[in-house]
Amino acid sequence: MTTNTPATRNAADHPLHTTPFTARADAREVIEGVDLTGRRAVVTGGASGIGAETVRALAEAGAEVTVATRRPETAEPLVRELAAVDGAGPVRTAPLDLSDLTSVDAFVRNWRGPLDILVANAGIMALPERTLTSRGWETQLATNYLGHFALATGLHPSLRAAGSARIVAVSSGAHLNAPFDFDDPHFEHRPYDPWTAYGQSKSAGVLLVAGARRWAADGITANALNPGYVLTNLQRHLDDDTMRAFGVMDDDGNVTPLPYYKTPAQGAATSVLLAASPLLEGVTGRYFEDNQEAPIVTDAEDPTGGVAAHAVDPAAADRLWEYATQALRTP
Ligand SMILES: NC(=O)c1ccc[n+]([C@@H]2O[C@H](COP(=O)([O-])OP(=O)(O)OC[C@H]3O[C@@H](n4cnc5c(N)ncnc54)[C@H](OP(=O)(O)O)[C@@H]3O)[C@@H](O)[C@H]2O)c1
Repeated sequence: MTTNTPATRNAADHPLHTTPFTARADAREVIEGVDLTGRRAVVTGGASGIGAETVRALAEAGAEVTVATRRPETAEPLVRELAAVDGAGPVRTAPLDLSDLTSVDAFVRNWRGPLDILVANAGIMALPERTLTSRGWETQLATNYLGHFALATGLHPSLRAAGSARIVAVSSGAHLNAPFDFDDPHFEHRPYDPWTAYGQSKSAGVLLVAGARRWAADGITANALNPGYVLTNLQRHLDDDTMRAFGVMDDDGNVTPLPYYKTPAQGAATSVLLAASPLLEGVTGRYFEDNQEAPIVTDAEDPTGGVAAHAVDPAAADRLWEYATQALRTP
């Protein structure tokens, strides 16, 4: 365990939040000794990858966890596994397809009582072709951002009722290269690019937590994070050439992580830290990676880490909140 040297978020702002946990800490380690009995959590996309490890750590710490998934049957093995763990909180599944507002509305309608933790984890990456939802929304933006916006705003009364709820948005380093394009978010006029679409949706996720500062008086905090590189189902839309270019596939088609890749449990650590660690009590509107708050960086620096200035700009956050609110209202 190491402590980061204090750094500055930007010249006029506060020192970055640090924790004693390294990039290699796993999800259990970052909340060791924390008792979440009686706390209620929702983890979207909690049936696989980073989400499943987030569910495991929260439930093992005693939380009541709802695995929100578009394919509830895929979460059943995890539910059975955790039901057999002594002291684990109850885990259940609930159907949720973030690309379909009817499904999001049904999830919200069926939710009862307060909600302490919302982990907006589900995501899809780099769809090769431009695909649209029934509302005409680009599918990555619809799933990764607009669906989560609808979910968070729909669950706002339940988050407020919890008194000190936390929202956690799982973003990605891919946000660094793709500001939200207010003129053409769905690639109607510019050429579609799978990585720009993914990155834009992940910038939107960071802006969502910046916009959620309007809920501070309700005791709600919201933070975003980059989990780091993890081999999961997320890479399903990448072809073999792209996997080889990333260095994770050999000539025989075997897929192996590079040394700096994390395990899913390590990838889930920053989510769990933000969701439940007392170290982050009251912290809001920030972006973390490797279990530390990351500095703001500018495009001119050609950054490989940190959070882009375009993703934490309060004016952009408010404009995006308004855009999403209008988009949800438009049939
Ligand atoms: N892995 C990495 O290297 C990496 C790096 C940076 C950021 N991230 C982010 O980490 C998060 C978790 O990804 P992961 O790596 O753990 O990948 P994963 O195993 O593919 O998990 C993504 C989850 O999202 C769910 N999902 C996809 N579309 C959905 C929809 N329309 N409605 C509801 N759920 C949906 C998937 O469910 P199905 O099984 O039904 O598809 C899956 O359970 C994502 O937001 C991703 O962008 C990952």
